[in-house]
Amino acid sequence: MSDSKGTVPLMINGKRTDGREVEDLRNLRIEVGIIPEADGSAYVEWGGNKIVCGVYGPRECIPRHDASPYHSIVKCRYMMSPFASLEEHSRSGPSRRSTELSKVIREVFENVVIAEKFPNTQIDIYIDVLQADGGTRTASITAATVALANAGIPMKDMVASVAVGKAGDTLVLDLNKAEDNFGQSDMPMAMSQKDKKLLLLQMDGLLTKEEVIEMVGMAERGCEKVNAIQTSALKRFYEKGEDETVKW
Ligand code: CDP
Repeated sequence: MSDSKGTVPLMINGKRTDGREVEDLRNLRIEVGIIPEADGSAYVEWGGNKIVCGVYGPRECIPRHDASPYHSIVKCRYMMSPFASLEEHSRSGPSRRSTELSKVIREVFENVVIAEKFPNTQIDIYIDVLQADGGTRTASITAATVALANAGIPMKDMVASVAVGKAGDTLVLDLNKAEDNFGQSDMPMAMSQKDKKLLLLQMDGLLTKEEVIEMVGMAERGCEKVNAIQTSALKRFYEKGEDETVKW
């Protein structure tokens, strides 16, 4: 997320470089139950992002000393594959970035999973980014919510996520990679869908108070659209019947 104001044209004649209006989402497709061995899973294609999420648990907590007699421990491992983008340079294994993203995604779900129901256990959320195109953390949260629902893990609320940013002096929803990397500001957010609680808010760049308020409103409207796609993916899965769904 760099601030390279003015060096890369991101708004041309009032349109974004990919032709979208300021509040348009990129194409979003969600498939449920794509890993039959997992307790719950989801695949998300969002713009050029391709992300797989597998959820396992509640299951025995390992190491045992991590376990709590009061609630399940939510764990999250976000990983970008070495071939996900040119910038990855074929590095594999954890990095500072993947550690940060794993942490912020875990904290989102610690706030919605009803963990008290499953003492002495853990719930694992594994996220693998196969292809990256800006907004992988928001796409990962969107995928993980669906995978958790597919695993039957009780949650207080569904979570949807999207980034809002400033590119070419304009506030835009759902930043693509160029807007994310070369725009003036990036503010990924995640919101619970009934209560409209902000569960993730990170920010890069400089914004005024008025801009932040407007961006939260844009994120709220964007998250509602994302949530409609999450819900219809889950409905499609359960209406079709679980046996028929694993088709690539
Ligand atoms: O993906 P997200 O926007 O949540 O996180 P970011 O750190 O702001 O990265 C923005 C984008 O830059 C990613 O989505 C990737 O497209 C790209 N990126 C990459 O390809 N390799 C990295 N090591 C970091 C970022």
